Amino acid sequence: MPEIVLTQASAHLRHGSNIGQPLTRRDGVLKVTGAARFAADNHPPGMLYAVLAVSSIARGRVTFLDLQAAKAHPGVVEVMTPANKPLLAEDPDAKTNPFIFRLDVLQNDHVRYANQPIAVVIAETLEAATEGATLLFPRYETEAVRIGLEAGESFIPPGVGIGNPAETHQGDVEAGLAVASRRIDATYETAAQYHNAMEPHAIVAAWDGDSLSIDMPSQGLAMALGRVAGLFGIPPESIHIRSPFLGGGFGSKGLISGPQVLGIMAARLVGRPVKLVLRREQMFGPVGHRAPTRQTVRMGSDSDGALTAIDHHTKTASSTFDDFFEPASDISHTLYASPAISTSHEAVRLDTGTPLFMRAPGEATGSIALESAIDEMAEACGMDPLAFRLKNYAEVEPISGKPFSSKALRDCYAQGAERFGWARRPLASRQMRDDAGLLVGWGMGTATFPALMFQGQARAVVRNDGTGIVETGAHDMGQGASTALAQIAADGLGLDLDQVEFRSGTSDLPDAGIAGGSSHTATAGMAIHSAGADVIARLADLATGDERSPLFGAGNAGVIARRGRLFRRDDESRSESYAEILARAGLAEIEGRGNSAADPAAQSSYAMHAHGAVFAEVKIDPELGQIRATRLVGAFAAGRVINPRLVRSQYYGGMIWGISFALHEHAVMDPRSGRPMNPNLGEYHVPVNADVPSLEAILVEEHDSYVNALGIKGVGEIGITGTAGAVANAVWHATGIRIRQFPITLDRLIEPTP
Ligand code: MOS
Repeated sequence: MPEIVLTQASAHLRHGSNIGQPLTRRDGVLKVTGAARFAADNHPPGMLYAVLAVSSIARGRVTFLDLQAAKAHPGVVEVMTPANKPLLAEDPDAKTNPFIFRLDVLQNDHVRYANQPIAVVIAETLEAATEGATLLFPRYETEAVRIGLEAGESFIPPGVGIGNPAETHQGDVEAGLAVASRRIDATYETAAQYHNAMEPHAIVAAWDGDSLSIDMPSQGLAMALGRVAGLFGIPPESIHIRSPFLGGGFGSKGLISGPQVLGIMAARLVGRPVKLVLRREQMFGPVGHRAPTRQTVRMGSDSDGALTAIDHHTKTASSTFDDFFEPASDISHTLYASPAISTSHEAVRLDTGTPLFMRAPGEATGSIALESAIDEMAEACGMDPLAFRLKNYAEVEPISGKPFSSKALRDCYAQGAERFGWARRPLASRQMRDDAGLLVGWGMGTATFPALMFQGQARAVVRNDGTGIVETGAHDMGQGASTALAQIAADGLGLDLDQVEFRSGTSDLPDAGIAGGSSHTATAGMAIHSAGADVIARLADLATGDERSPLFGAGNAGVIARRGRLFRRDDESRSESYAEILARAGLAEIEGRGNSAADPAAQSSYAMHAHGAVFAEVKIDPELGQIRATRLVGAFAAGRVINPRLVRSQYYGGMIWGISFALHEHAVMDPRSGRPMNPNLGEYHVPVNADVPSLEAILVEEHDSYVNALGIKGVGEIGITGTAGAVANAVWHATGIRIRQFPITLDRLIEPTP
């Protein structure tokens, strides 16, 4: 375990024993025994059940709801509609910052997408509320819907993703293409996807006067708190949100959703606590999705296989009333060296709910096109795809010219290829069969994701019994944050894990930033780490300034903290416990604060990304076209590994999403009604055990001194990038057929699209 170099708050070197340990999830037993209380498991006294009625049309107006019938149903207490909804202090369509997601909370009778909430039925039981909602028999005035990337005029959005420019140009792409001896010009299509976390969006809301208590899964407690405070016109201090567990989020719980706000409004309307949980099909509309993309990649290379130009254009979609766009082309800024790179985006406005961040937004979709195109380019050059990637390895970030803060991608390629057996791969397609006569193909893709860190805060305390408390409003979506962060907390305080109480998951704790962008371990972890350093510095001040202490005169930088004691760095036989230091000072406890401020000089000097390489094997029935991903090896380098068991699990999850992207997930929209036709987990297929082959994830060693003092890059999303391309390239290698529409389904193999 390497030493942790602290930031300026204190110069003590900590010899932590918790970071790097493959601990199991601390909440694992609670979850498998059913003792973990998720939002919808809460039943405050007097609670009512709210059920959404949602629109069956995608565009138009609600002209009639049979309120009488619904209200007359036994058990129904109230029906909330635009006519009687509580007034909001803020327009739910107002966009005061770019991260505001416009909400449908019954502000009027307009329908802007299918499955939009149009009424809320509140009843004594879930059954009564559900039946009441079916009795509303809405009537509509409908307008022609716009579904599909050809459905509207396209335009260039002002910004994409988190506000990046929609277009970038570096060098002369047309000149690069003109001098190329090999060229490709290929168009790839990805389907709309819906997040479909196992736990649907849910809320239990209870008002007490103007105070509000909320149980709700959230990936961003502080942002949710601010949004609720604004919408209801009450101070944030009057709102308490609890989100101790999430059954997955994948981005869709990053911002509070319209249905959750409706739960709060319903509780306001009836003056009793209300629970509102989305049904599975209601998650196909109001809570975000991944927009479809059509990406055109043009590439050229010289006769040695060196790229001369990359042009990556994305056409995607947003809703008619908001602005989130999937920034798919931006992946081409990072991965391959080329003297000319240009990226661009355009979008159409469709009658769908607004798209939202969905696991690796942009990178996941973009890497499918880029990694497929690289494979096609290698084929055109007659080169092995790994050799082609190494030939075009980016030593500096191509679009900015900045050096990478660290980049162990060569090691990822080497270790992944070795483990997979890549060297035995025949260059040509359709060369391998298994004993059963199935076609076998091997493909690869490069993975990458930016190393982000946001603003976050934490508080740490050491008590005079020698134990500690660390607090930050972090979010555990199932990824294991509460375990990994507790490991950082214990090392930060120089204590054993069982001596530290780690508190997170509620809105009254210091803001830990959003659990998104694969940034949470870095953000919350650095806040925790610096809060610990602050406490230790205060303890060191108490000891080294007191002649009665064996540490007297050692100087603040002259001590180290370990297992609840401070030691003289120059003479470790002289030490004192935290409890002794506090007792002599007459203190019950000592508190420190920390935050996760990034180093602006490092941020502006270095490009910061995690990298990886994914190798995939598929087997394909030559007559039926049935595709099975049978074996995947991923090798990833993402800086310091806090907990190898949890990190490996994140990589597995990402790779499974990649398989899903390549072969399964597809929201099918009816172009006439605008309704999703498969809004259920029976027909919207996400991988189950039978779809997931042998998976292996290699944790490639990488040290990064610039991303943050702990060297953490983030592992949540990178696994999904590279993987879908690797599977698609394996499909080509097995069959010689290049499918450019995702998911790759058997019908496309039997009748390949020209
Ligand atoms: Mo994520 S899509 O950054 O939760």
